[in-house]
Amino acid sequence: MKEKVEKLKKEILEKVEKAENLKILNDLRVEYLGKKGPISELTSHMKELSPEEKKDFGMLLNSLKQSVTEALDTKKEKFEEEELNKKLASESIDVTLPSTPIPTGSPNILEHVIEEFETVFMSMGYDVVDGPELEEDKYNFELLGLPKGHPARDAQDTFYVKDDELLLRSHTSPVQARVMLAKGGIEPVRVICPGKAYRRDDDDATHSHQFTQIEGLIVDKDIKLSDLKGTVTVICKKLFGKDTITRFRPSYYQFTEPSVEMDISCFNCKGKGCNICKNTGWITIGGAGVVHYDVLRGCGYDPEKWSGFAFGFGAERCAMLKYGINDIRTFYNTDLRETKNFDRREED
Ligand code: DAH
Repeated sequence: MKEKVEKLKKEILEKVEKAENLKILNDLRVEYLGKKGPISELTSHMKELSPEEKKDFGMLLNSLKQSVTEALDTKKEKFEEEELNKKLASESIDVTLPSTPIPTGSPNILEHVIEEFETVFMSMGYDVVDGPELEEDKYNFELLGLPKGHPARDAQDTFYVKDDELLLRSHTSPVQARVMLAKGGIEPVRVICPGKAYRRDDDDATHSHQFTQIEGLIVDKDIKLSDLKGTVTVICKKLFGKDTITRFRPSYYQFTEPSVEMDISCFNCKGKGCNICKNTGWITIGGAGVVHYDVLRGCGYDPEKWSGFAFGFGAERCAMLKYGINDIRTFYNTDLRETKNFDRREED
């Protein structure tokens, strides 16, 4: 019996050794270790043996099974490793090849300028708030001193959505009224509101039926025109360079008294005169003023106790000046080359 087992072991191990591929190896596993294989067959003879012989024979068979299994497993691993190496060699990547360029995005230049405004104002304690673009006549005009039929409404003609009452806001100033009413006339206000506004304008290089304003409002005790001048001057120096000089010209708005037009010295020619400032040395960037008594009262603030200033910057105007863009439509077409170009300008 023992010789028979030894002989079988030798035969199997030789066959495993000679096996040339995984398939042959698997066949050998089934042939010798399977239920109908010779090892199983030998095991079935156990019952004919005495208990003493059974023990020896059992150990012999176990060691045979173990040797065969080990030999099969080792060889299997070897084949698998060889196969993997072959695969890796055939799939190797040449890391020196140039890659396919992936286009990178660049920020929209208008958004970028608005974010700059927000950062500077927030550093001065202002909150950034939002208001509806689809606005009621009451907020867009009435509460700002522009009752129905007022001639100054002509300059702010816009798109009416429902009768005379619902319109696309013609400026961001209605947010002033909304914020004051929400505060209930008892708390100070310090907000800016960047947002879209609309007018019934024909589009050309300097006009667009949709544009962006950055509205600002402060209401507190003892606020004066000089506070407005100081604040706007700091902001302009931050945004347009520290040599920037501001100028305030008398103007007229229905919701401020006095009202001013805000100019900055031309950063291109430093006031000498060039084509950007149309040889005046100054560039207008928005309107402002001390909040009108009637507006404060209409929005719940007692004008004997409270005062404030307000302003509206033209965002496209500021971006155009800062980046030397000469057509407002640039912001509203979809030519990606433009954002890319301005992005590069900024890195210079
Ligand atoms: N809303 C004005 C416009 O669209 C700009 C403006 C002027 C806003 C004076 C203000 C202000 O808040 O006080 O022309």
